[in-house]
Amino acid sequence: KANERESLYLVSEFANTYFQKVLHKTDQGKSIGLSYFKERGFTDETIKTFDLGYSLNEWQVFTDEALKQGYNLDYLEKTGLTIVKEEKRFDRFKGRVMFPIKSMSGRVLGFGGRILINDKKAAKYVNSPESDIYHKSKVLYGIYHAKQSIAKEDNCFLVEGYTDVIQFHQTGIKNVVSSSGTALTSEQIRLINRLTKNITVLFDGDAAGMRASLRGIDLILEQGMNVKVCTFPQGEDPDSFAKQNTLEELSLYLEDNAKDFIQFKASVLYEESKNDPIKKADTVRDIVNSISKIPDRIKKEIYIQECARIMDISEEVLFSTLAQINKKEF
Ligand code: CTP
Ligand code: MN
Ligand code: MN
Ligand code: MN
Ligand code: MN
Repeated sequence: KANERESLYLVSEFANTYFQKVLHKTDQGKSIGLSYFKERGFTDETIKTFDLGYSLNEWQVFTDEALKQGYNLDYLEKTGLTIVKEEKRFDRFKGRVMFPIKSMSGRVLGFGGRILINDKKAAKYVNSPESDIYHKSKVLYGIYHAKQSIAKEDNCFLVEGYTDVIQFHQTGIKNVVSSSGTALTSEQIRLINRLTKNITVLFDGDAAGMRASLRGIDLILEQGMNVKVCTFPQGEDPDSFAKQNTLEELSLYLEDNAKDFIQFKASVLYEESKNDPIKKADTVRDIVNSISKIPDRIKKEIYIQECARIMDISEEVLFSTLAQINKKEF
């Protein structure tokens, strides 16, 4: 089994080299893929750093080349690079710019491939399927390039997408990783927890991003980590925002707008419910529920005090709500 996994790594490394070669050395790669990345503002250095590539818009050129080089069809199929259907073989990635997904130690686990022109009929991103080397719930895009900065800065920015990671990196903020479309998991948070206790969640400035931020908070708190949240103007995401701003402007924005989770929940939920007593009660319970996830008792108490102040509710009521929640859970 260890041998087979090694073979899956090898075929993935081959694909990674192949997609980069196609991007830099073929006419289609250069005129379509490379110009796409340039339009997004990615420099040559950035494209190299993240091993960005391109898959030709053909049915099976990649698979043919891999087989010619001696890679086993079985492994091509198990990594999802090749789709086998009734004796026929198809490349999974066709006419897409390619983002290799790497482990903490830099091994290629899988790929995300982006379509070039937004088209409602095709998925914007096609991703590698789960395999013996790629477990989506345990992987964070960008972790290999971010790990040193995360430890050094003692903070990790968490974003939604591939391009958010890359654009931040290029602007000069390197302690950034992405959950890449999957809902954040405890295992992903544990990867960060090994490097820092501080996470700043940066989700897209839309309703989906807001919901994702709210969901992630409790999971982070459960691991005894500190969580801040920073939102972006409506319609912007970390990529588009970083692209329009210098490192100084971006850093300043993050400093000014990163709110502690309780202030974030208070500002988002409380603002829309404070004039409605029933909604307000729900909001208070929601926030106390988050506080109940914090393992440290002193921190818990400090947050209850903070919550009481923001919500204008007595600490006694909040402590008894906390006690009720704890009783339900045990
Ligand atoms: N995603 C995915 N499949 C999709 C859409 C999104 O896997 N059909 C994942 C990708 O990892 C993507 C992330 O979810 O990076 C965030 O989605 P979204 O905000 O829609 O994409 P962006 O990263 O902003 O991509 P782009 O800027 O290229 O539109
Ligand atoms: Mn989004
Ligand atoms: Mn986005
Ligand atoms: Mn985007
Ligand atoms: Mn920038």
